[in-house]
Amino acid sequence: MKELLKIQNCNKHFDGITALDNFNCEISKNEILGLIGPNGAGKSTLFNVITGFIPADSGMINFKNFNISKKTPSKINNYGISRTFQDLRLIRQMTVLENVLLAFKDQPGEHLENVFFRNNKVKKIESENKKKAMELLKNTGILNKANDLADDLSYGQQKLLSLLCCLASDAELLLLDEPIAGINPAMIEKILSIINELPKQGKSVIIIEHNMDAINKICNRVVFMDAGKKVSEGTPAEVRNDPKVIEAYLD
Ligand SMILES: Nc1ncnc2c1ncn2[C@@H]1O[C@H](COP(=O)(O)OP(=O)(O)OP(=O)(O)O)[C@@H](O)[C@H]1O
Ligand SMILES: [Mg+2]
Repeated sequence: MKELLKIQNCNKHFDGITALDNFNCEISKNEILGLIGPNGAGKSTLFNVITGFIPADSGMINFKNFNISKKTPSKINNYGISRTFQDLRLIRQMTVLENVLLAFKDQPGEHLENVFFRNNKVKKIESENKKKAMELLKNTGILNKANDLADDLSYGQQKLLSLLCCLASDAELLLLDEPIAGINPAMIEKILSIINELPKQGKSVIIIEHNMDAINKICNRVVFMDAGKKVSEGTPAEVRNDPKVIEAYLD
C-alpha cells in the first residue's frame, strides 16, 4: 500500500467546539476512502484543514511526503489536491463551460503580462483547456448545457458540474464533500460511476457521504469519525458492525 496522504495528530477547535481531536488518517494511492460520521462530526472541517482553507491548531499533514500543513489553498491545489464543497460554490452567473475552465490549473490569464500580451502560447493553452473542458462535459452528458448559466442547471446537474470542476485540475487526490446528497437516483448512479473510475486513472478519493449504500458500492475502506475523533476504520462491513459506531449513532 503506497501512502499518498498522511494526517497526523490534527486538532481544530472553534470557540469551545472540538472539530478535530487528535485526528490521524492515511490514504493510499488509487484508493477510494469513505469518511462517514454524524452531523457535526468534523468531516468537512477535515477537508478544510487538508486543503488549507482553515488552519489546524496543531498537527501535520503530508502529501506525497511534502509537508503541506501551512500552505495556502492554491499551493495545495498545485501539489495535486482538489476538492468539492458541501455547498457547491459554483459561480452561478457564469456558464457551465466557464466554471469548468476556471477550475483548470493552467490559467494563463492569471499572470499580468498575459492579460496585456495574449501571445500564441497563451492562446494555445486556452484552446487546449477549452477542448478538455468540452470533453469532460461531453463524457458526462451535459455538453448541451455548456453555454447555460450554472444557476439554470438542476441541483443534480450542479452537483455533477462541481465534480467536473474538481476533476478539471487533474489532481491526484480528490476530496468530495457529499457529492450525491439530495439528488435523484439516476444522477447518483452517474456520479458514482465517474468516481468509481478514478482509481483506474491513477487518482485517489476521499468521499464524505451519509448515503451508506453509495459508500458500500465504491469504497473498500471507511473511516468513521465522531466529535472530531477517528472512532473506527476498516471495510464498510467492519465499520458498520463495530459496536463503537453503533453506540455513536445511538447517542
Ligand atoms: N468555520 C467554522 N466556525 C465555527 N464553527 C465551525 C466552523 N466549521 C465547523 N464548525 C463547527 O465544527 C463542528 C464540525 O463541523 P463540520 O462541518 O466539520 O461537521 P461535518 O461532519 O461536516 O457535519 P455535516 O455532516 O453536518 O456536514 C460543528 O460543530 C460545526 O458547527
Ligand atoms: Mg460537512
